[in-house]
Amino acid sequence: MKPKKIHEVRNFANYVDQLARDIKAEFNSDITHFVDFGSGQNYLGRALASAPYNKQIVAVEGREHNIVGAKELDVMAGVAEKPKIMRNKKLWMQQLDSMTPEGQRDERAVKRAAKAIKMSDDYVVDLRPRNEFDAIYTPKEGKGFIRYIEGRLESGDLKDVIDQLEHTKLEKTALPTDLTRMMACQAPHNWTEAESDGFFTRHFFRAVLQKIFLDRGVISKIYHDGTPVEDGTDSSTQSPFNSLHTYVRGAIAKLTTSSDYHEQRDIIKERMSDITDEEIAKYESQYGPRKRELSAIWTLMAFSAVVVESLIVTDRWLFLRQHSDSVQDCWVETVFDYRQSPRNLVVVGVKKPKP
Ligand SMILES: C[S@@+](CC[C@H](N)C(=O)[O-])C[C@H]1O[C@@H](n2cnc3c(N)ncnc32)[C@H](O)[C@@H]1O
Repeated sequence: MKPKKIHEVRNFANYVDQLARDIKAEFNSDITHFVDFGSGQNYLGRALASAPYNKQIVAVEGREHNIVGAKELDVMAGVAEKPKIMRNKKLWMQQLDSMTPEGQRDERAVKRAAKAIKMSDDYVVDLRPRNEFDAIYTPKEGKGFIRYIEGRLESGDLKDVIDQLEHTKLEKTALPTDLTRMMACQAPHNWTEAESDGFFTRHFFRAVLQKIFLDRGVISKIYHDGTPVEDGTDSSTQSPFNSLHTYVRGAIAKLTTSSDYHEQRDIIKERMSDITDEEIAKYESQYGPRKRELSAIWTLMAFSAVVVESLIVTDRWLFLRQHSDSVQDCWVETVFDYRQSPRNLVVVGVKKPKP
């Protein structure tokens, strides 16, 4: 985790814990479960499920690969257990060998692969790779617990989801995070030359890739509603791309192989697989001079982000105040140090108990 994320998770886990205790003291209402909508890799939920908090977490996340990754991290953190896989070693090695290209096998592997696999009818070996075994979560008295729900929320109105959660025997829920996307919100003094350059370069590559997708008929429109065209790259985990060529090749590879993009896979294969290095280079030289325009727009967005962020927070707080029939109390406060994490405001709404 980057220092910013460590700061956020540490402070927010503490904050949520204290908030739950304050609500219990003030409203005499125990919060039994904590729901994170858009839990990502579930760093926050994992911290809250661990000592000293030991909370019951429901993590709702739209992307399957995030849940798979989160479960692996849960095992590493000791919140879940690794499944024990019973394997016949000989058969397993033969299976692995048969999946390795012949030229890459060592001598012993070649011998093993040459032997036919004999399987008795009553002994079926589990040949799934390790990452396909689900982590094991065991509820224990006084310990935290995590439940994952894979699903994409289609609107900001979470009433239906909360009703469903309540029907699965969760008595009360707290909503610790929201899903707002605001890439531009950065504290200006954090903008180092290297960071800005990496950011602008990535967004320049992304914009040119969108143009290539448009020209080749992968997409027919670019929506200017803040929803970026998926390029399969993830700025938080990928090393910086040093040329448009590596970016485009990386994006095509990811979009045509990852299970997350199975809907787009065929059209991308069909329309993009014959793109040549010369074509990519032509796009780079044609659009390269316009990178400065993109940098200027992103800088203006970053400056206005603080104002926009404040407007959004005020709007949400007013929305809660206007619904006093179901909202018992609401307020806004800071949870992070602005220099470390500038999106540092939290909007709290305490739901009225059902009559
Ligand atoms: C900024 S990350 C959240 C990080 C996380 N709360 C943590 O503590 O590490 C936002 C997450 O919300 C998910 N997401 C965004 N929109 C969603 C939706 N409509 N339904 C479900 N998940 C969504 C994204 O896949 C992403 O993983």
